[in-house]
Amino acid sequence: MDIRTTSGMIQDIKADAVIVNLFEGKEPSGATGAIDKALSGMISALRESGDLKGKLNEVTVLYPRGAILAGRVIVVGLGKAGEFTLDRARQAAGSAAKKARDLGAKSIAAITFGAGAGEFDAQATVEGILLGLYEFRVHKSAPAERGPVESLTLVEADASKLAAVEAGARVGRILAEATNFARDLVNQPSNHMTPHILAEAARDMAAQNKLKYQVLGLEQMAELGMGAFMGVTQGSDEPPQFILLEHKPDAGQPVIFVGKGITFDSGGISIKPSEKMEDMKGDMAGAAAVIGAMQAVAQLDLPMHVVAFAPACENLPSGHAYKPGDVLKAMNGKTIEVISTDAEGRLILADALCYAARYNPAAVIDLATLTGACVIALGDMVAAGIFSNDDDLSARLSEAATKAGEKLWRLPLYEEYKDKIKSEVADIKNTGGRGGGVGASAIFLKEFTSYPWAHLDIAPMSLNDSNSPYTPKGGTGFGVRTLVEFLRARVPS
Ligand code: BES
Ligand code: MN
Ligand code: ZN
Repeated sequence: MDIRTTSGMIQDIKADAVIVNLFEGKEPSGATGAIDKALSGMISALRESGDLKGKLNEVTVLYPRGAILAGRVIVVGLGKAGEFTLDRARQAAGSAAKKARDLGAKSIAAITFGAGAGEFDAQATVEGILLGLYEFRVHKSAPAERGPVESLTLVEADASKLAAVEAGARVGRILAEATNFARDLVNQPSNHMTPHILAEAARDMAAQNKLKYQVLGLEQMAELGMGAFMGVTQGSDEPPQFILLEHKPDAGQPVIFVGKGITFDSGGISIKPSEKMEDMKGDMAGAAAVIGAMQAVAQLDLPMHVVAFAPACENLPSGHAYKPGDVLKAMNGKTIEVISTDAEGRLILADALCYAARYNPAAVIDLATLTGACVIALGDMVAAGIFSNDDDLSARLSEAATKAGEKLWRLPLYEEYKDKIKSEVADIKNTGGRGGGVGASAIFLKEFTSYPWAHLDIAPMSLNDSNSPYTPKGGTGFGVRTLVEFLRARVPS
């Protein structure tokens, strides 16, 4: 989409639809007030009749019939002024943009949504619009009945704020496009998103954005002693790929992002029930998030060394597959008894976390659709779990998540969980018993870390099964914006 910023009055803009907003219980003011005036008080009249309340995400369409240049005016509610957050701005912007698209608008113009914090308001507005308009139509034969929206003009009345609005709009576009890229990767079914295809997607993105790209194949994994990863992949005919992306290798100790890249998780020999198994095409959402984040890191040209790992393979049953009871040896020499071949994510991450130590990292953050237990604990599409051995790192990630409109809830890494993964035959086993499944998975990962580390269990947040204001059904791209906001906050200013 073509995105422009301009200083002027929204009522003078020519577009198929112009978007303004209204706080609940407040008179139209500012740009909304100006439109109201130009339309002879139509918004005020709707308010007085009670037909327009300004409730969050309430969308009202008005037809100016020549009173202004725009074909339509969309008024979207922001909710109560006292409850306003930037995430509400994202939501309202997404709701309004989708309405414009569904009405067939090709060109839209919007004011920045917010409380006057120029740059951040503009960022949230652009994020909400671009994220809300996302669609995955790759496998649809027929074109969409309506859309796409081709251009967005962000209109700022105060010329002195234009530079801030422009800067915010640019960041918003980069973050939304990176998130939508991650969504594309997640939404592709596993026959169109094999480990090899995922590596190619990362390679193409790296080439376009001047990132260093590297991939380790099975032979190199064997040389490195990645026995845990190799156990998981051995049942599949698709070769595994350990994807690496790197930004500014010379800029000091890196922050490393690690994303679980199981392109399909059948459970392996410990096979999953068939109900909803199709959702396991999304078991590479962690990998998608770190690859998406790297696109934004490169486009924002953040002044720091950042590395992403996306270990990718399939988890399938076959005559070659690893089996319950098997013992695997991870790169750090620890032996692991496999109790369930469906607890495969922690196995591939174990070797990736060991490999990260070679970089002497400042911090390592892994994202993984790791456990159903986390979904049970926190609820589908409510929050992701965060575990960390470093309170400061955990706090900074939570702060970044809040900025991004993504929720992280800290869960404990109690040593007691370690008892649950004691093995009779090996150093540890890959599952605990009943209860505390999410804690057991995190304490398992901790065995392979030797640096400040945080683990995000994004299983609850990776796929949306209904449409939310700026998160359509399907892959969410969860984590991309949190990771980038985390880095942006580290930039020395
Ligand atoms: N990929 C799944 C976890 C998952 C579940 C992700 C639901 C997204 C939505 C993971 O590999 C898995 O199968 N975990 C098992 C672990 C168990 C065997 C200890 C689980 O959660 O059931
Ligand atoms: Mn599994
Ligand atoms: Zn899995």
